[in-house]
Amino acid sequence: MTEQLAILDFGSQYTQVIARRIREANVYCTILPFSTPASDLAALRPRGIILSGGPASVYAPQAPQPDPAVFALGIPILGICYGLQLLARHLHGRVEPGAKREYGKTSLTVTDKSCPLFANLPGTLQVWNSHGDKLTRLPSGFKTVAVSPNSDHAAIEHRARSLFGLQFHPEVVHTPRGAEVLGNFVHRVCGCRRDWTMHNFVERAVAEIRARVGAERVLLGLSGGVDSSVAAALIQRAVGDQLTCIFVNNGVLRGGEAGMVREVFARSFKIRLHYENASHRFLRRLKGVTHPERKRKIIGREFIRAFEAATRKVGRARFLAQGTLYPDVIESVPVGGNPAALIKSHHNVGGLPRNLKFELVEPLKYLFKDEVRLLGLELGLPREIVYRQPFPGPGLAVRILGEITPRRLAILRQADSIVLEEMKASGWYYKLWQSFAVLLPVRSVGVMGDERTYDYTVALRVVDSQDGMTADWVRLPYDLMERLSTRIINEVQGVNRVCLDLSSKPPATIEWE
Ligand code: XMP
Repeated sequence: MTEQLAILDFGSQYTQVIARRIREANVYCTILPFSTPASDLAALRPRGIILSGGPASVYAPQAPQPDPAVFALGIPILGICYGLQLLARHLHGRVEPGAKREYGKTSLTVTDKSCPLFANLPGTLQVWNSHGDKLTRLPSGFKTVAVSPNSDHAAIEHRARSLFGLQFHPEVVHTPRGAEVLGNFVHRVCGCRRDWTMHNFVERAVAEIRARVGAERVLLGLSGGVDSSVAAALIQRAVGDQLTCIFVNNGVLRGGEAGMVREVFARSFKIRLHYENASHRFLRRLKGVTHPERKRKIIGREFIRAFEAATRKVGRARFLAQGTLYPDVIESVPVGGNPAALIKSHHNVGGLPRNLKFELVEPLKYLFKDEVRLLGLELGLPREIVYRQPFPGPGLAVRILGEITPRRLAILRQADSIVLEEMKASGWYYKLWQSFAVLLPVRSVGVMGDERTYDYTVALRVVDSQDGMTADWVRLPYDLMERLSTRIINEVQGVNRVCLDLSSKPPATIEWE
């Protein structure tokens, strides 16, 4: 049985970051809505509870409050920011609006070095704050263990009851030693073992998949992306040939993609792989279509058709596997609203055939993306797959503006391969979120040798991002940009101009369509 920590989510934008830091300390943790009844929480037998931050003020009428019985469970609690203020409010301290909002970096002075949260850490730490209200009177039995210029009670504890509060955010990178503070909480205060590793996960997941699947068959739509690839390798480890992967060629894949997927999965992993080449059908349907949303709809619809056709060929299966990740299944907390009203939809499920009656197998649904990558390495997948950049389901179709024709596809594939090659050779590929070429079928005049040309433009889109929601363009070195431009113009027939996209998201999006 894996030990776990529970995080009650009060709507902080950093709740998932807290969970990741705890897991990096090799302890499993789960994120629960703030309103989870204490009895449900107790049933999970967590070794500790973290109260996350949140945007509200603890005395506001709509402020999210935990079940007060949580404080009487006898389980260690760490309140972070809003979580500290909740501790104070529920245990009869006082929180008041601060004269000025404390935001950004500050210096923390540890005043009681015997506090287990600061074990093995220096007496002064750089920390990051973001709060308006502040604690002005300690709840009874508590003492202050650290201060900062704007907080007389930057860290508090009730050691006998194992209750702790931090006014700053230990989970963010701007608190450089914060991961160690959280590590001290889970290991020294809660006494958790370091049993959450991907090595242990494989063993447990394999046992669970076997128990669930029995002697039945499992289908999996393999895209070649990280999530479906890791899910495939894991399920094959569990049930071998009972797994059949279906790889659909939608005609708008990048060059060499279909070959690479067959090479890795069918040849080296010996996974049963059905290759459904529907490219002609997709391209026929896309002919003459210029509107971005129409393209996406057609590709979505045709994908379901192709997948259904493939399932008829490979035969009945009871289970369908998906690479759903933890962020897709966590219930989000609306700010000051009813938590039941806002449960994230499974965006991954969107594109699947609903009338095929499958039972779902989602072996990655408790993992964050960085854990999925570690799992992939543990399973022996090549780094090329584990660390590959995201590639959209509608593929190159959303990177060719206007109509998709075989010629335009060939041009973009060649430019795309050059971008991939150069980004990998220079080491930049793995440092950023995405780097790719976009084909703009507007023609402009150029000159090559003695000839005038009248050819297309390629735009380079190179962005960095944490999660794809916001993004910034990357300042690549000039010599790399020069190589990209020279090679594309010299080698790709039909292109005589290369531009660099200098837009951030928002207001632009990452893909052009
Ligand atoms: P945008 O263009 O919306 O993209 O800024 C954000 C991230 O999502 C990827 N993307 C998609 N991924 N199916 C996918 O699986 C899609 O239809 C799709 N559209 C965009 C995009 O590559 C970027 O990483």
